[in-house]
Parts: sequence; structure tokens; C-alpha cells
Amino acid sequence: MLNPDQIVYLNGEFVALGDAHISVLDRGFIYGDGVYEVVPIYGRQPFRMPQHLARLQHSLDGIRLANPHSAAQWDVLIRELAVKQPFADQALYLQVTRGVAKRDHAFPPGVPQTVFMMSNPLPLPSREQVDKGVAVVTAEDNRWQRCDLKTTSLVGNVLMRQLAVDANAVETVMFRDGFLTEASASNVLIVRGGTVVAPPKDHLILPGITYDATLEVTRDAGVPLEVRKVTREEALSADEMWLSSSTKEVLAIAQLDGAPFAGGVPGPVFRKVWQAFQAHKPHAA
Ligand code: PDD
Repeated sequence: MLNPDQIVYLNGEFVALGDAHISVLDRGFIYGDGVYEVVPIYGRQPFRMPQHLARLQHSLDGIRLANPHSAAQWDVLIRELAVKQPFADQALYLQVTRGVAKRDHAFPPGVPQTVFMMSNPLPLPSREQVDKGVAVVTAEDNRWQRCDLKTTSLVGNVLMRQLAVDANAVETVMFRDGFLTEASASNVLIVRGGTVVAPPKDHLILPGITYDATLEVTRDAGVPLEVRKVTREEALSADEMWLSSSTKEVLAIAQLDGAPFAGGVPGPVFRKVWQAFQAHKPHAA
């Protein structure tokens, strides 16, 4: 349920959600002309904030929009919003759009960006999802060629995610030209013969912050690791397949397109890396 009293941030002010308004001419609304980030916060401690702010800069550069704040200013604003929420574990959403202007595809000169932030309870997977794994469906990746940018133009991802919802699954794992890319709102990693194999961070996938964290804890746990392109056949015959994202952490896939996947239970490499991830993430003081 929407809570109209929830404190959000809009263009320099902390206001109640019910009082936060933007123009219908905002280019975020008209064109999806903006970028966003989701920063997970554990016990009011942001996880990997510098990495999220670096990716924000990459997305802004990719759409040729100036960053309205320095990293230090973002850091202050994000922490300020986080302390205003009545819950400790949060998914902080921030969005920057190209502002309000008369409708015309061309960039409007001299228009200030719109900056919006809100922070909601972190919707981590349930214990059952962690222990039993989750269901996914697969589809051909039909999104644009700049999936490395975290833009608010998400209708491609929205349609993909709905395929999963329609099949009572949590995600849609995508393939492009015979290779694994990612899922509608997560990265995808596989395990073959005890080695974790991750698709490279190119223009076809979002460079996930949780993907990086997962690869780091995998390496630190002494599990062999390869970053390379993964064919559809390799993915579909993998020993394990995982999702990673800021809100899912790392989660095993136990069902794919309606059939049990890889024995229908999370595998041993997942359990080891999930444990390592839990030890790695921030904990409430
Ligand atoms: N989604 N790929 C896509 C397409 C995503 O939307 C996301 C994150 C990821 C994982 O990135 P990270 O580990 O940095 O969260 C990969 C966020 C959570 C969202 O849109 O809500």
C-alpha cells in the first residue's frame, strides 16, 4: 500500500509522498528520458554506495545528462533519506530525468534535471525461496543494445518480467543470438563442473553491483570462476543457475520453463556462495 506520509526526496526537499508532485511534461514521464539506481541498505548502512554512484555516472554519461550532484552530495542525501525511514533494511530508489520542457525529442537547453528518491523496505527473498530455489521462464532478449545503462525506459524489461508473473515464476532469463544475457531485473550466473561462469559485463547486460559482489565472494571462497560468454545450451544444461540483484542478493533457480532445473533444488556451490554473501553484506550494528 502507498503510504502518503512516507518521506521522499524531490528536487532539493524532503517531503511526504502525498505532497511530492512533478509536471506531466517531465521527460521521465513523456520519454522515459532518465536513469535510476537501486541501492540496498542494511541496518541503515548502504551496501557498495561508491559502486552504485559510479554506475549512476556511467548511466548519466550514456544518456548525455549532467550529474546534478557530486558523489559526496549523493552520499549525504541518500543517508539522510535512509535515516528518515522507520525501517532499517531498505531498497533506496533514486531517479534523475532530463527535466520539464515542451515536448520535443531534442534535448531541451538549460533545463534543470528532476531528482527523485524514495526508500522502501528491502524485499529480500523468503527463507523458503533461498532453501528451495525459485522458478524462472526463458525468452529471447528483444531489448535495445544499451542494456548497460540503467535507464527508466523499462518497458522491455516490464514485458519480460510479466512473462514470468504470468507463469507463476519470479524471473525471465533471456538469451540473445544464442547467448545468455541476464534476467528482467537480475543478472544470471551458472555453475558447470564446479566452476562459476558469468557472462561478461558488456553493452548487453546491466553491470550488476550484486554480480560483482557475488564474483568477489566466490573468488574469496576459493571457488573457480570464469567470466565469458555462455551459450544457451551451456546455460540450459548447467549444474546450477543463479539470479543476482540488490533485492534478491543471490538466489538459486530450481525450475525453468515449468520443469525442474538442475535436480530441482539449489546446488552445493550456491549454498557455499550464499553463505559467503551473507557474511560479506553489512549487518546492523
Ligand atoms: N534491478 N539486470 C537488470 C536488468 C536489473 O534491473 C538489475 C537490478 C540487475 C542487478 O543489478 P544490481 O545487482 O546492481 O541490483 C541486473 C533493480 C534491483 C531494479 O530495477 O529494481
